[in-house]
Amino acid sequence: MRLTSWATLLLAGSTWLVNARPIEDPRADYVVNAFKHAWSGYRQYAWGHDELRPLTNGTSDSRNGWGASIFDGLDTMLIMGLEEEYQEALEHVKNVDWFSTTTPSKTFETNIRYLGGLLAAYDLRPDPVLLEKAIELAQYVLLPAYDTPNGIPAAYVDVKRGKPTNDKSLILAEFGSLQLEMVRLSQLTGDERYAQIANNVIYAIDNVDTPFPGVYPIIWDLDSFTPSSCNYYEYLLKTYLLTDGHEKQQLDMWKKSVDTIQTYLRSETSGSMVFLAEIDEDYKLLQTGELVCFIPGNILLGARLLGDSELTKFASELMKSCYDTWAVTPTGLAPETWSWIDKAQNISSFPEIMQSAMKTTGFIPQDVQYDLRPETIESIFYFYRLTGDPKYQDMAWKIFESIEKYCKTASGYTRVNDISSSESIQGLDFEESVMSLDEWVYSTEAHAFKLDKPIQVQAQF
Ligand SMILES: *[C@@H]1O[C@H](CO)[C@@H](O)[C@H](O)[C@H]1NC(C)=O
Ligand SMILES: *[C@@H]1O[C@H](CO)[C@@H](O)[C@H](O)[C@H]1NC(C)=O
Repeated sequence: MRLTSWATLLLAGSTWLVNARPIEDPRADYVVNAFKHAWSGYRQYAWGHDELRPLTNGTSDSRNGWGASIFDGLDTMLIMGLEEEYQEALEHVKNVDWFSTTTPSKTFETNIRYLGGLLAAYDLRPDPVLLEKAIELAQYVLLPAYDTPNGIPAAYVDVKRGKPTNDKSLILAEFGSLQLEMVRLSQLTGDERYAQIANNVIYAIDNVDTPFPGVYPIIWDLDSFTPSSCNYYEYLLKTYLLTDGHEKQQLDMWKKSVDTIQTYLRSETSGSMVFLAEIDEDYKLLQTGELVCFIPGNILLGARLLGDSELTKFASELMKSCYDTWAVTPTGLAPETWSWIDKAQNISSFPEIMQSAMKTTGFIPQDVQYDLRPETIESIFYFYRLTGDPKYQDMAWKIFESIEKYCKTASGYTRVNDISSSESIQGLDFEESVMSLDEWVYSTEAHAFKLDKPIQVQAQF
């Protein structure tokens, strides 16, 4: 499961780019303005805090209070050419004291936001201070997480003591997706330790038996390291890319898991939508959500890399269905979760209310909140880049317009409580790039790390 809540929104096309030819698309300016709008609210009311509360102009420090929005925004500002904003942000970054926090560091969040933000900014503009801060952060906050009897990283670290907390419960999407940032840190510093300890976790997962090849439960126990998910899978493929093919084992693990997902989790509705079910003990639970909608893009990336047309088809049907969960609602925003009736099931045997939802929207909305999730847009970005088809830009634009209409506040962007009502009451962070997928690999937080050697997956524009 993706645990990013206010991650990054990607739209393709822009005029203010780093290292790529400009695309003249006036929509790009609207995206930059959206970023500037959110940034100016944050700067005015919440500077140095993790985030702004965009309805009250209050602040929140859910990520240790080191200024998460600033770290997450560094690469976005460089890509958008917002020099003044970047310089101001860099001043903050230089002066952050990791020991100032009063709460435990959540290993996964610190890794993707703070370490990922520093490394991606460094890849765009190698200012030594960024790497110094990254090394410091790894030493004092991230490496202590791995200080466990079996080297499986703890979910939380007490920063002042430099030790894991006593929390024993682990989430696959967290401990199983730390290696991309750590591998990049090793590549940039020449210190192999980071990559080693993080890749070892992945090899340990590969040794665990599971009834479904390559697919594992979400919750695990730290001590016994037994299973009880999702961006775990995307990092296998991305680490393979970032290491220029050296992590072959991780590509094999990725392929195995995607095969299993296709065989066991794929479910088609009577209206021909295709969603991924969950497995609960031995039965299929027909429910999913927006958090899972980054998968179509990741499968397409792998499909292109492997030249696998069957996987391309699977990715495409998932993409279309994810997009339709936005397109059919009155607000144009997707629900957080939904269920459906499989075409093999007898639809008349279900309650009337479910039948009618299936007939009108094609699925059954469950949690109708929209929490500024970027996953579908991320997938659309991959589809646009990998196929070159401008219809994906139009899809992303439609979503952007809905967000502008329903989520914008006087000082930022906020969640929407009911996407099924166009009377809807209402933190978002924007990123754009024409940085090629042939040259960059994007983390789960959409921070971009530079590939040593280019690959060829992106469409020729
Ligand atoms: C928050 O800030 C914006 C922009 O300065 C302002 O227009 C709005 O009234 C403020 N909201 C509250 C609740 O104070
Ligand atoms: C489908 O369900 C309805 C209502 O429960 C029932 O009357 C009908 O016989 C079922 N059809 C099949 C093919 O099982």
